[in-house]
Amino acid sequence: MADSDSQTSATAPGSGSAGCTPELAVIVPTYNEAANIPVMIRALDSVLHGLDWELIVVDDDSPDGTAAHVRALGCTHARVRVLQRIGRRGLSSACIEGMLATTAPYLAVMDADMQHDETLLPRMLERLKAGQLDLVVGSRYVAGGGLGGWDDKRRSMSRLAGAIGRRLIKADLKDPMSGFFVLRAEVLHQCVRRLSGVGFKILLDIFASHPRPLRFEELPYQFRTRQTGASKLDNAVLWEYLLMLVQKLVGPRVPARFIGFSLIGASGVLVHMLVLWSCYRLLGTSFLTGQALATLVAMTSNFFLNNLLTYSDMRLRGRDLLRGWLSFVMACSIGAFANVGVANYLFQAESFWMLSALAGILVGVVWNYAVTAVYTWKKPRAA
Ligand code: GDD
Ligand code: MN
Repeated sequence: MADSDSQTSATAPGSGSAGCTPELAVIVPTYNEAANIPVMIRALDSVLHGLDWELIVVDDDSPDGTAAHVRALGCTHARVRVLQRIGRRGLSSACIEGMLATTAPYLAVMDADMQHDETLLPRMLERLKAGQLDLVVGSRYVAGGGLGGWDDKRRSMSRLAGAIGRRLIKADLKDPMSGFFVLRAEVLHQCVRRLSGVGFKILLDIFASHPRPLRFEELPYQFRTRQTGASKLDNAVLWEYLLMLVQKLVGPRVPARFIGFSLIGASGVLVHMLVLWSCYRLLGTSFLTGQALATLVAMTSNFFLNNLLTYSDMRLRGRDLLRGWLSFVMACSIGAFANVGVANYLFQAESFWMLSALAGILVGVVWNYAVTAVYTWKKPRAA
């Protein structure tokens, strides 16, 4: 998502809400939500009665056939659209692409699983139009709002993530983790090229990326319990949250995947030292044996962590794992040669030893990242 800042975000002259049709687009990201879609359409139909609205479901080619279900329902519901993305995953990027696919001046983002209270939508829209506001957020953390049936662990995780998020955006938003909000389309257009688009936290991303402080209001709602289907929030999503925070610190020019890859690379150094120490100091092997084993173990742990986290959206499984591991080890071995070669060259040219080493490491990491992105985690072939 992150792209050149030099392009300005054009807001069409005179763009505003007057006479636009539809007036409101409800963007719903989905992954395996087929059973929830009819329920949601019925609910929206009833609460948005009298408004000119459309529903844009952004589905990442769910195995349960969500996109086909939406199309079938769209036959009898003129307001329903579907954007089916092939070979892609990600809640945030799905929301961004859905928001860009409409001409409506007001955009609502909402989950498909009915955990967000759709009956709040008309009031959110009203507040957005009435006040001098950019954004209205459905909030679980203002008086009258609540978390429903969450267990203590998820409650405290949500609070912690929210507290970190608030520091990042420097706005007193009580629920920066909310996935339920309504905004003016131009607010999105003004920051769309700066968004990281990684992970689940699209609202936080918008706040952190916008060039000026946003005017917002929070309206309370009770987070409901999911009736069908399963949550997709797992460890990979938490990792992506961390990456998004780092991304905001280093800026949009460095790809989020590269940041993740480098952080995992750094963890590999610790693994390496631990194995080397165990072999050489504890078990009394030769240094060479210890070093070789440590290199292999560190590469393997890097491979699995990257497969789990950096490439959670194209995770290799089954037989592909062996092929992936082999190509990863081969790529990283060449990377290690490049690393040592460059460092040695610079050192011979009388550069400061630490700088030489760092330059070597940088060349190695960039090489490993670039090569494994192409050969280890190949994009799935188009169907
Ligand atoms: N297109 C697409 N691609 N949609 C996705 C993906 C994906 O990779 N992953 C999840 N979704 C969709 C789900 O199908 C659902 O409609 C919505 O995004 C939220 O996913 P859940 O898995 O239900 O997340 P959650 O309930 O644990 O967390 C949600 O609520 C929190 C509280 O508001 C998310 O909206 C969080 O961002 C939010 O903090
Ligand atoms: Mn949910």
